Amino acid sequence: MNRTDVLIIGCGIAGATAALRLARNPERHITVVTRARDPHESNTRYAQGGIVGRGNDDAPAILANDIIAAGAGVTSPEAARILAEEGPPLLHEVLEQTARVAFDQDASGQPLFTTEAAHSRRRILHVGDSTGNAIMNGLITALNECPNVTVESEMTAVDLITFPHHSRDPLDNYRAIACHGAYMFDRQERTVHRYLAGATVLATGGLGRIYRNTTNPPGARGDGLAMANRAGARIANAEYVQFHPTALAVPGAEGFLISEAVRGEGGILITPEGKPFMADYAPEWKDLAPRDVAARAIHHEMERNGYSYVLLDIASRMSAEAIRERFPNIYEQCHKAGIDITRDPIPVVPAAHYFCGGVLVDEWGWSNIESLYAIGEISCTGVHGANRLASTSLLEGLVWGNRAATRIEESLNQGDALRTEFDNVPSWDESGLVADADPALIQGDMQTIQNIMWHYVGLVRSAERLSRAIRELRHLWNEIETFYRTTKLDDGLIGLRNAVEVALIVAQAARHNRQSRGCHYRQDSAVSEGDRLI
Ligand code: SIN
Repeated sequence: MNRTDVLIIGCGIAGATAALRLARNPERHITVVTRARDPHESNTRYAQGGIVGRGNDDAPAILANDIIAAGAGVTSPEAARILAEEGPPLLHEVLEQTARVAFDQDASGQPLFTTEAAHSRRRILHVGDSTGNAIMNGLITALNECPNVTVESEMTAVDLITFPHHSRDPLDNYRAIACHGAYMFDRQERTVHRYLAGATVLATGGLGRIYRNTTNPPGARGDGLAMANRAGARIANAEYVQFHPTALAVPGAEGFLISEAVRGEGGILITPEGKPFMADYAPEWKDLAPRDVAARAIHHEMERNGYSYVLLDIASRMSAEAIRERFPNIYEQCHKAGIDITRDPIPVVPAAHYFCGGVLVDEWGWSNIESLYAIGEISCTGVHGANRLASTSLLEGLVWGNRAATRIEESLNQGDALRTEFDNVPSWDESGLVADADPALIQGDMQTIQNIMWHYVGLVRSAERLSRAIRELRHLWNEIETFYRTTKLDDGLIGLRNAVEVALIVAQAARHNRQSRGCHYRQDSAVSEGDRLI
């Protein structure tokens, strides 16, 4: 049993920023939980390219325009304005000052900005090609210095504690849904604890792992989204799953991200025969076309010509020394996979990368459920529209982590503290369950979900593919629900149950929306103005 002022589920940039902001009030106790063994492990850690800052010739309105243009008509202008205005100053305050992240600079101490797809200015700050890793190191060090923040690892959230759902109090049936914390599975003890909190923040990241090919780490299986959905939260824009154009396509190293910054520094996409092709699809932007356009162009080239990958050439655009200095991590990982990027082009394919939809929240990260907030990739602030602009996700985590914390602090100050007792919340009941989760079933079902999503709910969709996906996922959902109800709890089982649930959410949203837009492309849709079809 655990009681805390604020429970933050997830410890990437969004969760850590919220915790640091709340920790300024020494009266508050903040509990951050993560299912990972090492709290540095999160989606944030794998971010390579960087984070949007403010270049010399830049201004918030210019950045907001780029975000809106990339978002293909779905971006909320207000959310874009908030991000563009508040992001760069927060980057300085939280990352450079508090977390002491040292972004790359030139010899005279000026920031070394890079660019990525669909940016009209060079404005992306980076730490080599391991920006997320540097950020996580700084944030975790800063959190460890806060006496009123407890970071607990190897804790998997099972479900949110919501009234009236879990209440023993009959009067709660007449009240709006409110969240009072979560049931947490302790992976070491293999037991479930009740965590009660005045405010609960979902910062659990994305869902790339429901796809066969993804750049995301194993935790990205939609846990937060599934829990929020079961609790009654509103979900928006779930059809907009962004595919990164360039993941490494070498057996054994699939999914390793080849940062868009490689193209930002001059890299070009070529066919296996050596022909550049992006000018055919995006004459204005060429290799720096918005991500949805670049990913579909690669998919199209592969499908039309029967290629199993295309190539990304940086070797002929930069000196070997410059490549090794600018992209040490990519150089190293490709070298391990047998590719010398200073000499050879890199085989790449698109892979599921980022969830542009999520739990619908307001400009303070607040969901439709009382005391429940969602920040970072799991949330839908509206800023990413139908296609996220590169290197804005870390910035969104910072801005809405900070905003949610501000709103929570205000509401706790106004007496909105924890209003329930352990007596009101039933403890987890596993009595009668004796069977351990069979790993073969978990793995087999997970692979089935990933294959369905890849083939039928992937880069190119149609009513027929989506209907087939939904039928198969529904069948699987029933099987997995029975499996879940009759088996002792396990992290893999929790993830599987969540994965099938969010796969259905994405597939249903994709079937419902017949209009191709941004990263949702229906080959059976009529072309309409604003669509970017290839
Ligand atoms: C990349 O480095 O290409 C990824 C950046 C992002 O997803 O914003």
